[in-house]
Amino acid sequence: MIEPLRNPSSLHGKRAVITGAASGIGAAIAKSFVEAGASVVLTDTDMVRCRAVALDIGGVPFELDVTSETSWDEFADSYPETDVFVNNAGISASGSDAQDPENSSLEAWRAVHAVNLDGVFMGCRYAIWAMRGKSAGAIINLASSAAMIGVPRAAAYGTSKAGVVSLTKSVALYCAQEGLDIRCNAICPGAIMTPMWEPLLGTGEARHDNIKSIVSDTPAGRFGDPDEVAAVALLLAADHARFVNGAAITVDGGFLAK
Ligand SMILES: NC(=O)c1ccc[n+]([C@@H]2O[C@H](COP(=O)([O-])OP(=O)(O)OC[C@H]3O[C@@H](n4cnc5c(N)ncnc54)[C@H](O)[C@@H]3O)[C@@H](O)[C@H]2O)c1
Repeated sequence: MIEPLRNPSSLHGKRAVITGAASGIGAAIAKSFVEAGASVVLTDTDMVRCRAVALDIGGVPFELDVTSETSWDEFADSYPETDVFVNNAGISASGSDAQDPENSSLEAWRAVHAVNLDGVFMGCRYAIWAMRGKSAGAIINLASSAAMIGVPRAAAYGTSKAGVVSLTKSVALYCAQEGLDIRCNAICPGAIMTPMWEPLLGTGEARHDNIKSIVSDTPAGRFGDPDEVAAVALLLAADHARFVNGAAITVDGGFLAK
């Protein structure tokens, strides 16, 4: 694995917040931001893992359920200002319920949208408010390559992520119209090896075959690593990316280029 590009001072003096930071991509982003000089608040609902990751990398843990308006209010009271905000928390499905457009329950559909889209809306709303003092900041939303294609067995996941891409553009335009130097961009990862995939991978021989089958459509021929997404988040968070706004950037080993 190649070490990701990290400017050791690109976020020096910045305050950053990441949702869903106890695991996978969120934890990798938190680590890269700390290494780049930011003070980082890691938020999640899984506080055992969140505290462990925060302790390990030198961040501050905070319990925040992105689906709960009360939770956002409590967070805003504690952190009324921020410079970088990453809406990363997400789920691929609601339990083991069917997610296809014929058999999905309304409850399962709504549960996915509650985290992946309502959560990102409330995150963007908080971030604009918390960045108004300085009239500047960077918001980064984790969408997915699933935002750009049909996802027959995970329809709610696809629509929630398509919503995130659209919301990202609306936030970028709104902030510009308000005269705020707040950039809002989305990252669209392809298959990245994180705990989110575990229910689909299995164990032993089957695991090897499942991995091979999942990445068969990816020109890179492998899963991505969370650090490879964190490297792009770090660039978008830094002032070096000040002319990048309203973009949806793929980090997918070429998957969407096909
Ligand atoms: N892993 C991939 O292949 C992949 C691909 C495309 C997009 N993404 C997106 O990247 C983001 C991170 O995914 P990951 O693979 O690291 O997943 P992950 O399951 O490893 O981590 C997700 C984190 O979100 C937290 N979370 C779940 N519900 C929450 C809630 N209501 N409030 C606060 N936190 C909550 C979980 O506790 C967990 O720590 C997600 O938005 C996901 O949709 C992942």
